[in-house]
Amino acid sequence: MAAPGPHSVLYKGLMLPALVHSTESLRYAQLGFQVRDRDIFSVTYPKSGTTWMQELLTLIHSDGDPQLAQSVPSWERVPWVEQTTAAGFLENRPCPRLISSHLPCGLFPTSLHGSNAKVIYTVRNPKDVCVSLYYYSKMASFLEFPEDFGEFVELFSAGKVLFGSWFQHVKGWLGLRDRLNFLLLTYEEMHQDLRGSVERICQFLGKPLEARALDGVVENASFQAMKQNRMCNYSLVPENIMDQRISPFLRKGVPGDWKGHFTVAQSQAFDRLYQEQMQDVGIRFPWDEA
Ligand code: A3P
Repeated sequence: MAAPGPHSVLYKGLMLPALVHSTESLRYAQLGFQVRDRDIFSVTYPKSGTTWMQELLTLIHSDGDPQLAQSVPSWERVPWVEQTTAAGFLENRPCPRLISSHLPCGLFPTSLHGSNAKVIYTVRNPKDVCVSLYYYSKMASFLEFPEDFGEFVELFSAGKVLFGSWFQHVKGWLGLRDRLNFLLLTYEEMHQDLRGSVERICQFLGKPLEARALDGVVENASFQAMKQNRMCNYSLVPENIMDQRISPFLRKGVPGDWKGHFTVAQSQAFDRLYQEQMQDVGIRFPWDEA
């Protein structure tokens, strides 16, 4: 791995944006942060539906009332445990705390193990993750990237992007699913049946919602509603950090966008790598059927 540039911090082999991470914040997340039994974690590899899950968890906990989701930024409502703001946001917060993380399981707070905390792991077709990350890297001034999409696919395939390898992340977390309070969701099933997915989340959280509250969650977490919500569409972030004229943060919001980006050869090479890496996982994902 190359030495970290001015925008990056290198922690235990992982290269992360220095804008919101530091060696101290990552060490605190792993070793200092005390997981509580009622904590609810949303864990994702970047660009897999993190912001969507932040919105859903907020709305579920507000019984479908959008007031909180429309008045407090998503990163404060469901903060990332690994970011420099984590202790300030989370230490004095009453339970249940809603917490985001992109950390691979090996760098996650060690006090998760042995706790009753809940983990929702959302996974998305890696080809769509790759496309989404490519556009995100273009618009985010703190990320370096090659303009050529083929080169970007190679970096992504080799895990030389923020938060490392998609394969290691997914396989690591899925390997823990029988040992934790764990719900596996896919971006694709959320897209296909948001209401059904919200019901699954509610069941997992032990928080059933009335039909009206469920309506409120589904309406306010739609792609269109979220695009208009300044508290989750990242328009609060200055343009010199995220330039949404280059690419909006909430960009397309659909499965399958990879088909307009990968060449046949790039797609086949990625499929071979995918087969090799995922053959022992034993789960069929929606994109495996395509
Ligand atoms: P695209 O770039 O493919 O549009 P993350 O929040 O993990 O960074 O992921 C961002 C991706 O999730 C973006 O994908 C974004 O558009 C998509 N997304 C966010 N909210 C969504 C919603 N309500 N419905 C569908 N997709 C959503």
